[in-house]
Amino acid sequence: MRISVIGCGYLGAVHAACMAKLGHEVVGIDVDESKIAALSAAQAPFYEPSLDDLLVEVQATGRLTFTTDMSAAAGSSVHFICVGTPQKKGENGADLTYVDAAVSALLPHIRENDVVVGKSTVPVGTASRLALLVSEQEPLAHLVWNPEFLREGHAVADTLHPDRFVYGVSDGNEDHPAVGILDEVYAAPLATGTPRLVSDLPTAELVKTAANSFLATKISFINAMAELCEAAGADVTQLADAIGMDDRIGRKFLHAGIGFGGGCLPKDIRAFMARAGELGADQALTFLREVDAINMRRRTRVVELARELCGGSLLGKRITVLGAAFKPESDDVRDSPALSIAAQLQLQGSVVTVTDPKALTNAAKRFPELHYQKDTDRAVKNADALLLLTEWQEYRDLDPYELAGFVASSSILDGRNVLDPAKWRAAGWTYRGLGRP
Ligand code: UGA
Repeated sequence: MRISVIGCGYLGAVHAACMAKLGHEVVGIDVDESKIAALSAAQAPFYEPSLDDLLVEVQATGRLTFTTDMSAAAGSSVHFICVGTPQKKGENGADLTYVDAAVSALLPHIRENDVVVGKSTVPVGTASRLALLVSEQEPLAHLVWNPEFLREGHAVADTLHPDRFVYGVSDGNEDHPAVGILDEVYAAPLATGTPRLVSDLPTAELVKTAANSFLATKISFINAMAELCEAAGADVTQLADAIGMDDRIGRKFLHAGIGFGGGCLPKDIRAFMARAGELGADQALTFLREVDAINMRRRTRVVELARELCGGSLLGKRITVLGAAFKPESDDVRDSPALSIAAQLQLQGSVVTVTDPKALTNAAKRFPELHYQKDTDRAVKNADALLLLTEWQEYRDLDPYELAGFVASSSILDGRNVLDPAKWRAAGWTYRGLGRP
């Protein structure tokens, strides 16, 4: 099939490459010329494991091209909308400027039987509004909402082998003409038994925000337990292991630490609350305010613990932060808890050095006032305290005996609870975890 993918960020670039991998002829379209230049040279404009290899592989087939020219969408029968929906400045709601701009730029190029497929995360009600615009332009074209559930760091595998497909169509019926067309797009993963649910448009939009809200709630639940464990002298990692053995609860997303960040969970729960308010259902989501508050409290708690670790004052203390990305295997620093903690420490008078295998360029754009050092050995040299804030494998693998030779004081705060406290203490370190004795 001929497919256009509008928006070539974390979602769209991966989606375009994966659709070409599935055998389709794909054009990726974005307004950002530098992004398009990189992608045209088979280079991902951000770090995502295996994406570069996939780009090289599919571009060699001639099935994948990139352009800034929206008219290249003409002739495709399926058009995926993959642009961002960031948080509005100074407000909780989602900024739909990019979605609206993408759809209006696309409209003149759609023809009868075309399917416009929304993948961006949008406030419920957006799809019905866009469906109207599509039908006004071309009564025989369709709009489908097909939310995306990929995780950064696993984006290629999650796109090629998703847990499920959700198709939201105007009448919510399986026999809606767009269902068969999307089934053709996803024929390969569907053939391997991937479940596919057809719903109406608002349900499909809500599936996405509900899923992210549940994940955020799970993380904040375990972080609330971490607060209690700290107060009671208990260990949240053992608690998570024990409750996670109950199938109904499950161990995934019960890693207590500095909390969630990134371009999705924080802004999605806020936009969800804002939308619920508009719909007169704000009470249903007031708990998400608490989820957000617990999450933000982790950052403050880490700054306090760092102060304790430095003997009661942060002033002039050399602190090395291990990790800047919002999670490992990503160079994304949007709302990264690690960077927000690093900036707080600096504001409170410590001399902060941040290191990260992939995210330093993005981090320096966000917080130019922090000091960055790519090399871990150099970054930790003469540090008064280390803070492990993004659990890259290379930080999990650090040897406490070797590291002790570089630092000024053997003190470490494990903000992700991924180190073995007994091993670090045996090597002479003062070890602090979160929610652990
Ligand atoms: C999240 C969802 O997991 C995806 O399903 C969704 O498609 C995506 O948002 C999106 O809306 O686009 P992502 O933001 O890539 O994916 O990252 P996650 O793996 O969900 O991690 C989010 C944050 O939670 C990270 O900062 C991570 O460190 C933190 N986290 C995760 C915890 O603190 N504890 C955990 O147990 C798990």
